Amino acid sequence: MTDMITKKEWNLQDKYVLITGATSGIGLAAAKALARRNANLGIIARNQSKAEEITTLLRMQTKKSIKIDIFIADLSSQKSIRKVAAQILERCPRIDVLVNNAGALFDSFQKTEEGVEMTWAVNHLAPFLLTSLLLDRLKESESARIINTASHGHKMVKGGFEFDHMNGERLYRGMKKFLGGPTICYAQTKLANILFTAELARRLEGSTITVYCFDPGLVATNFNQNNGMMAKATMAVMNLFSRTPEKGADTLVWLAELKDTSNQSGKYFADRQQKAPTALATDKELAKKLWNISEEQIQ
Ligand SMILES: NC(=O)c1ccc[n+]([C@@H]2O[C@H](COP(=O)([O-])OP(=O)(O)OC[C@H]3O[C@@H](n4cnc5c(N)ncnc54)[C@H](OP(=O)(O)O)[C@@H]3O)[C@@H](O)[C@H]2O)c1
Repeated sequence: MTDMITKKEWNLQDKYVLITGATSGIGLAAAKALARRNANLGIIARNQSKAEEITTLLRMQTKKSIKIDIFIADLSSQKSIRKVAAQILERCPRIDVLVNNAGALFDSFQKTEEGVEMTWAVNHLAPFLLTSLLLDRLKESESARIINTASHGHKMVKGGFEFDHMNGERLYRGMKKFLGGPTICYAQTKLANILFTAELARRLEGSTITVYCFDPGLVATNFNQNNGMMAKATMAVMNLFSRTPEKGADTLVWLAELKDTSNQSGKYFADRQQKAPTALATDKELAKKLWNISEEQIQ
């Protein structure tokens, strides 16, 4: 990743960046790059000791003394998200950047304590809820931005969402599971990230907040390590052809420090360029419907 600062960039020094999924992979590489730019960081993690290890590592590689806060939350739990958001609002008088990066794929059907399928809960509902809880604080910043980690994987979704069957269980049964149902379920969450980004940007038009999402490419991380030996073996092979986490985080960091991109708010990026996602991902009616269903799911 290039650390060269150009005149087009927004200086991250002393800005406060809140990031999820910074204990591994793309999020960790992004946190390192942000710390090198002297941004103050708030790390939202589910594992305290991992978060402390990362904090030590980040402090060691940063010359200037930056502020690093740890916030503990299991992003599959709405209760946990609400609790951590309250702690963040209490401890952080200012949030300049929110990075919704944490994500996972669950190969077997699992429900959260709120009865939502896990992949949907962690990848879509968590950013949706966390963002809505922190939005007023972001609005108080002179110029804030929200960056969501999406994926080229959204292209696998051909038929949209089953809005009358949002827990997705059917995709985990029989032939549907055999034909890659859980991967489709994951792809739907990444489509949701793009639709959420676009709809949020429309709702924030005229405010000081801009919103972006990006595709990191195929990246060698700990992704899919929670799904047994077959998944681990598949990932080991795929990782041979994958980018480094630093390369995967490059567009995220680039978006975090771009100077004036207000006319690109709501857009999808890859390799430092605005890219066209699929037609489904630009469907405004679908984005509105998804927003309304998501609101119902976080009641
Ligand atoms: N890798 C790729 O090729 C690729 C491609 C496109 C998009 N993406 C997206 O990139 C993002 C980051 O993934 P990655 O590849 O860097 O994977 P990763 O190495 O597995 O990192 C995932 C991060 O999310 C955190 N996380 C997962 N579930 C959580 C939960 N319930 N509560 C709190 N934190 C949770 C993990 O915490 P722990 O450290 O505690 O596990 C970790 O910090 C995801 O949104 C993924 O969909 C990845």
